[in-house]
Amino acid sequence: MLGQFRKDYVALNLPSTSADSDINRRWPKRRLWRWWNQLSRFQRSVVYMLILAACLTALYFLPGTQPIWSPNNGKLNSLLDKDNITPALSLLPPKKAQPLENSLDNEEPVKDRYMNNDTQNKKPVLNKGNLDLHGETVTSNVGQIHSPPREGVKFSGPSNERQSAIVAAFRHAWKGYKKFAWGHDHLKPITGTFHDWFNLGLTIVDSLDTIYIMGLAEEFAEAREWVATSLHFDVNRDVNLFEVTIRVLGSLLSSYHLSGDRMFLDKAVDLGTRLLPCFNSDSGVPYSDVNLATRKAHSPKWSPDSSTSEVTTIQLEFRDLSRCTGDPQFEDSAAKVSLHVHTLEKSDGLVPIFINANTGHFRSYSTITLGARGDSYYEYLLKQWIQTGRTIDYLRDDFIEAISGVTKHLTRRTAQNKFLFVGELLAGGKDFKQKMDHLTCYLPGTLALGVHNGLPQEHMQLAEDLMTTCYQMYAQQPTFLAPEITYFNINEGTTGDIVVKTNDAHNLLRPEFVESLWYMYQVTGNQTYQEWGWHIFQAFEKFTKVANGYTSIGNVRNPLNTRPRDMMESFFLSETLKYLYLLFSDDPNILSLDKYVLNSEAHPLPIYDT
Ligand SMILES: *[C@@H]1O[C@H](CO)[C@@H](O)[C@H](O)[C@H]1NC(C)=O
Ligand SMILES: *[C@@H]1O[C@H](CO)[C@@H](O)[C@H](O)[C@H]1NC(C)=O
Repeated sequence: MLGQFRKDYVALNLPSTSADSDINRRWPKRRLWRWWNQLSRFQRSVVYMLILAACLTALYFLPGTQPIWSPNNGKLNSLLDKDNITPALSLLPPKKAQPLENSLDNEEPVKDRYMNNDTQNKKPVLNKGNLDLHGETVTSNVGQIHSPPREGVKFSGPSNERQSAIVAAFRHAWKGYKKFAWGHDHLKPITGTFHDWFNLGLTIVDSLDTIYIMGLAEEFAEAREWVATSLHFDVNRDVNLFEVTIRVLGSLLSSYHLSGDRMFLDKAVDLGTRLLPCFNSDSGVPYSDVNLATRKAHSPKWSPDSSTSEVTTIQLEFRDLSRCTGDPQFEDSAAKVSLHVHTLEKSDGLVPIFINANTGHFRSYSTITLGARGDSYYEYLLKQWIQTGRTIDYLRDDFIEAISGVTKHLTRRTAQNKFLFVGELLAGGKDFKQKMDHLTCYLPGTLALGVHNGLPQEHMQLAEDLMTTCYQMYAQQPTFLAPEITYFNINEGTTGDIVVKTNDAHNLLRPEFVESLWYMYQVTGNQTYQEWGWHIFQAFEKFTKVANGYTSIGNVRNPLNTRPRDMMESFFLSETLKYLYLLFSDDPNILSLDKYVLNSEAHPLPIYDT
């Protein structure tokens, strides 16, 4: 079944340049490239000279530049050139710049920083090398101290009907949110009201980079304006470190990298600084909650322990914040947690889902799962390894060991159709439970990402088998929507594979399976994954779309009684619609897996050399 694609995995494995060209081979060569090949040597020389002249002109207009991060890391110098940041010309109307109320430093006025008059009226000459959208354009500027002005990455909007349909869905959701819940965390689309969790305008913040990637200029301008003028972190309320890190910090950093707009970084620094007190525990393992105004951190009210996945799913964001600012304390605090968890004893790489912030130890006898409270520990092992240029070996090794552990202890096949699934171990590993959270459907995508980065081929077989199972979670429901939790029948000689309990039959518009569809499609080019994504999108349209947005439903088992829950979570806009939009893209490099690593909330962050 794998046949022809196996070769591609191998070719895709290592050096990123050959991976790029290999991917391109499967898609039609771009027209520009063809045009280029047809030019004579003389014509090419003329083009080179024009580009050179344009570069020199651009450099002439630049103010002096200073590298702010490690001088050894050339890539970062151009990335982080903080005096030279201009917003994405295509998406940010100049009028929208406002003085920053919470500005953390007293550099030049905001207007100059964002709206550099010199670059504003000029056509962009060079793309920012290492955040380039297309593998074949300029990268030679990377690593020079006199780097080009910081341009936002360009996205051209939907290029086919399916992508347009996803954008229409996004705008429908956004319109309802704007009308009834603007500035609040979540829209309740049926009653036309709102829900607040952290009081941080979560839906706006979480949507920023999706909006940017979809090329929605007007929506980006209004969201950016809200963030600049109305997003304040001086909120006297406990927030969850993990949730705020992946949703808010992650999105601010992504928006900064994609748009080049320094305001997002200023906000990220303010937030990151307020989250840091979480790490002041005896062990360095963070407390789960913190009050952003008083900066007091503590364990959750319901437990003395933090969740393992939560304390290990903040590293991409904190590291990126340090790399962007040159202030190492964010990365240091978060990286220490990973290193600490690395030293703890595990069973074949698998971790219990609770860890105590004071002792730094796992709670023995807690569940082992790749679903809730365990999932993204494994995800961030791999993604941190990728983010740091595949230089930190223990992260990769722990990931590989954990996947062996999954295969050995957690996978089983169903009785009738032999679907492979990932179950759970209870009571510290004694009892197997044939239950799989929809959350666990992130795993095949993460495995494919690992294989793309050179990890063992057998991970791809596991990924494909799990894709089939996760797809069945959807396809076997009359609504074509998966429940939150699925049980599997493993009693040999009986019929039926999938069992859904009444209390587990809800669907929260979650992204994990469409996330995996995107990775699998990126890595294999197999269009079946696009088709599956389209079927699922149709089901969202049919059963979750309401007049003022999209709603979670309470029951996927009965099309005539879906029991809408009147809630549109921010991850529907941040993740579900973003992954669907990416899945249907004609451009295989729209967010290249060799340039970006997406955090656990689908916010892309740059891959560094080290
Ligand atoms: C840009 O600079 C020109 C000349 O230096 C000036 O006339 C113009 O008003 C400036 N535009 C903005 C938006 O500041
Ligand atoms: C594409 O994926 C589907 C689902 O896993 C599989 O049945 C099919 O054989 C794959 N196609 C190719 C060409 O590998």
